[in-house]
Amino acid sequence: MLQNYSECSRTTRSDNIHLQAKSNMGLLFDSFFMEILVVFGAILAWLYYYFTANFNYWKNKGVPYLKPVPFFGNLIEIGLHRKTQAEGFRELYRKLEGQMFGGIFQTRIPMIMFRDPDLIKHVLIKDFSHFHDRGMPHDVENDPISANLVILEGQPWKNLRLTLNPAFNSSKMRILFHLVKECAEELSRYLDSFAQKGDDVDLRDVLARYATDNISSCAFGVKSNSLKNPHSKFREMGEKIIAPGSWTNMHRLFRYTAPSLLKYFNIKSFSDEITDFFVDVVKETLDYRENNKIERKDFLNLLIQLKKKVDITENDDEEDKNAEDDLEKMNNAYNFSFEEHDEVTNKKFTKNGAVVMQNGQTPTENGQATPRKKWLDSVVFDEHMIAAQVCVFFLGGFETAATSMSFCLYELSLNQDVQRRLRDEIDHVLKEHNGNFTYNALEQMEYLDHVVAETLRMYPSLPNLIRVCTKPYTIPGTNVLIDKGTPVIIPIYAIHRDPLYYYDPDRFDPERFTDYNKEKRPAYTYLPFGEGPRICIGLRFGLMQVKMGLAILVSRFQFDICEKSQVPLIMDPKKFVMNTIGGLWLKVTPRAH
Ligand code: HEM
Repeated sequence: MLQNYSECSRTTRSDNIHLQAKSNMGLLFDSFFMEILVVFGAILAWLYYYFTANFNYWKNKGVPYLKPVPFFGNLIEIGLHRKTQAEGFRELYRKLEGQMFGGIFQTRIPMIMFRDPDLIKHVLIKDFSHFHDRGMPHDVENDPISANLVILEGQPWKNLRLTLNPAFNSSKMRILFHLVKECAEELSRYLDSFAQKGDDVDLRDVLARYATDNISSCAFGVKSNSLKNPHSKFREMGEKIIAPGSWTNMHRLFRYTAPSLLKYFNIKSFSDEITDFFVDVVKETLDYRENNKIERKDFLNLLIQLKKKVDITENDDEEDKNAEDDLEKMNNAYNFSFEEHDEVTNKKFTKNGAVVMQNGQTPTENGQATPRKKWLDSVVFDEHMIAAQVCVFFLGGFETAATSMSFCLYELSLNQDVQRRLRDEIDHVLKEHNGNFTYNALEQMEYLDHVVAETLRMYPSLPNLIRVCTKPYTIPGTNVLIDKGTPVIIPIYAIHRDPLYYYDPDRFDPERFTDYNKEKRPAYTYLPFGEGPRICIGLRFGLMQVKMGLAILVSRFQFDICEKSQVPLIMDPKKFVMNTIGGLWLKVTPRAH
């Protein structure tokens, strides 16, 4: 037995040695490590091929282009967060100097940058029917919040946009004005406590809280109290949305490089926490208003009316009604068809039948655009649809307004003559309005308008516009054919800082926006809100909250550079909306009388 055992163990030992020797061999090579090396090399070679195979794309089309780097394309500096989107694209714009357009690559994906203002007009307006989408993937079944105005495409976008447009006209702004003014008064009271002590203040943070209060009051009908309580839930969600490395940023990363991964891994436009928060707030507010028969004059109320199919234009001013007629004319002008992938969205959020025709064409009656009442019928507003819109109003409204205001106060601190002149104008106009900040008073402040316009020239919230070519397009005056699916970049920041259009472009000079100076510039060289049918829908509201906040602050406080101020500003390359690293600090004191 013993012997057997030892024999057995001897045999096993020798087998082991044999096996070990064998295990060091690979399938194809003598060495397992060699095999790993070869497989690794093959993967690298395949990746290299995959990421560079397209690099002759623009050359083959005869389009001037910038030489890309394997794996990164032309956006390496932006991708590695060494440059902001604004500066990164400005550099590419400069390298393409003398060209009307130029080819670039995001990793391996060909994109085209349009530099020439006339071509930009084609993309944004004249040939909108080829460029009506931003190419952001959406999945309305699993991610209902993605059915929002920023992301939706084709016919469903158009139906929604035409339905929502009147919610942002001047008549509605007049109604919302008192809510915005309330928040601005709160802001002024809050800053007063710092001003009395002559403290330095991080205005970027304070103004983000002001903008959060504003948009949550006007869009959600909820007082978020972010100024009083910096840890309010709305403020927390706002910060989560824009935080670097956030869900939203991940979504952004895959959007163009690997959109199918978004669906595969079920990466939604916002994290579940953010989606649930906003959907719950909307549901609770809707229930509360319904049960208590409360009607508050805000965006949410307008959406509730749209849900009930009430025409929200009935009490509008004549001017706004005429604007509606223009929109109906636009229906005919931008007669485009929706893409196949929009059918799901179309089924979910639009009523089949007379209004949304099965071929996707814009509905017309006797050759005329369909009247507005019928558009209203074309969108199904359920709770998710409403939540998706207010959510995007929140996202679109709070960060843009907060940063624009803080950049403006920074420039006013550096340019005291402009600050004084602006304060004089505000004093003068207020006198005519018995010291009251009214909607009309704000409209009358011409210099304020120039100051804000110049701020948005130097610091456009979104440094680039994006469109995707939805059907093959020949660039006017050339024989270059842009393929369907090609992203088109319009580099607003680079254009706003081009000395060809703005002399000494890094200097803050509101005079650039007098009527006389504006007329001297080519059209489509100033695009802080975009242009054409997809122009920012919140333009009026955004400007109202920015101007209201600035007017109240400048009329009551003096703003100066302090030790903590960064001069020049250091921009954050990780942020999508133009923003600074480390806040924006200024010294605030009561104004001298
Ligand atoms: C200073 C403030 C703001 C700036 C600078 C700004 C800027 C922009 C820009 C550049 C676009 C893209 C336009 C294009 O692609 O042609 C945009 C779109 C949009 N903005 Fe704003 N925005 C501001 C405020 C707001 C506010 C307050 C809201 C909502 C209450 C809002 C909601 C939207 C929406 C929904 C879109 C997408 C429109 C569509 O695709 O039909 N924005 N905005």
